[in-house]
Amino acid sequence: MSNTNRMPHEEGIDHTLNLLREGYLYIFNRRKSFNSDVFETHLLGQKAICIGGKEAAELFYDTDKFKRKDAAPNRVVQTLFGKNGIQALDGQAHKHRKEMFMSIMSPEGLKKLINITKKQWEVAVDKWKQMDVVILYDEVKEMMCKVAYQWAGVPVKEDEVRRLTKDLGAMFESAATVGPIHWLGRNARNRVEKWIGEVIDKVRNGNVNVPEDTALHHFSWHRDMEGNLLDTETVAVEVINILRPIVAIAIFINFIAVALHHYPEVRKKLETYDEKYVQMFIQEVRRFYPFFPFVIAIVKKDFIWKGYQFKEGTLTLLDLYGTNHDHKIWENPDMFNPDRFDKWERSPFSFIPQGGGDYFLGHRCAGEWITMEVMKVSLDYLINRIEYEVPDQDLSFSMVNMPSIPHSKVVIKKIRRM
Ligand code: HEM
Repeated sequence: MSNTNRMPHEEGIDHTLNLLREGYLYIFNRRKSFNSDVFETHLLGQKAICIGGKEAAELFYDTDKFKRKDAAPNRVVQTLFGKNGIQALDGQAHKHRKEMFMSIMSPEGLKKLINITKKQWEVAVDKWKQMDVVILYDEVKEMMCKVAYQWAGVPVKEDEVRRLTKDLGAMFESAATVGPIHWLGRNARNRVEKWIGEVIDKVRNGNVNVPEDTALHHFSWHRDMEGNLLDTETVAVEVINILRPIVAIAIFINFIAVALHHYPEVRKKLETYDEKYVQMFIQEVRRFYPFFPFVIAIVKKDFIWKGYQFKEGTLTLLDLYGTNHDHKIWENPDMFNPDRFDKWERSPFSFIPQGGGDYFLGHRCAGEWITMEVMKVSLDYLINRIEYEVPDQDLSFSMVNMPSIPHSKVVIKKIRRM
């Protein structure tokens, strides 16, 4: 006899459709209605546990309790992640691969990225000045694509930029879709993996010279724990794990523009350019707006948490969006208020827009520092370096479509340098 309680549970055969219908709020809504940070349901044809909140995040990032191998659904692997990438590794193999990623996130690496980003903002502003209207989401994706391949050391010709932007965008725009958009994402991944694979072969054959401090060079020559080079496909997947999310920062840059428009009093404070307030603003954008809804793992071996049984092999989802909006952690969580970060407790488990826990030991986003630096450069351009008008448009955003992008994609016009 076990002395565990029955977990709050959702009746019914499968709730995948509800998850798709309710998007970012699926777990959060049920945590509220069950008044519980843990509940059981059925997703993707199997039993699943959903958890959220600070203590739940602490549990989720305990690598003795959860593993990532085979956790991600196939449609996510085929679009967002790619096969054999870091996201599905565990234990020493994960740590070794994560060190490969983190080694390029050095202070020098970040400085180089900041400089490339500034340069690309300059190029973009020169172009936008000539345009009647600028659709910020599309333009910033293309700008970030240039930043991504230059920083990663991938040689791309000017006339290939548009195609590459489209393909990298399709990978993160299609992960939670069904039908034709999903297939666009799959095809895009196949195309880019094949093309990057050919570049990697050329690097290894000495037919392409790449600076040593780039991801392309570093990953092409990285050796696994047995001392072997990674196979070409895996290197391609990991190089795309750098390129794709850098392009995805366009989403946060869009939300920066939305916040500047919706909260003029915050914008005013930012114009005085206090570095601390800038940091607080960036954090609030990452907390407030929806991006990654949840992360997925599998119970590694049976354990009991808060009197509830977690059985080996059970799919478990950690609510990222809901944890960032949890009233037990945040005062008035639905208010946009950068000042809340003034006296923030700095826990790696309460503020988790890009995952939680430790960078090296766990799966926390390898690109979190990069993301923040690119956001800061972009904010500087939007408030201190250019002027623009925001015509009437639908700046609202969906809480269902994942990832959520402002409906109008943020249209601006009359761009001038200040
Ligand atoms: C655009 C904003 C970004 C968001 C919202 C984001 C979010 C996330 C999330 C939620 C995870 C999973 C955490 C987990 O599994 O527990 C993750 C992992 C990861 N991210 Fe990001 N990310 C972003 C940008 C970046 C950037 C710019 C890079 C690299 C240049 C990057 C590289 C990675 C990698 C390599 C992983 C896998 C880490 C691992 O499995 O150990 N991300 N990210």
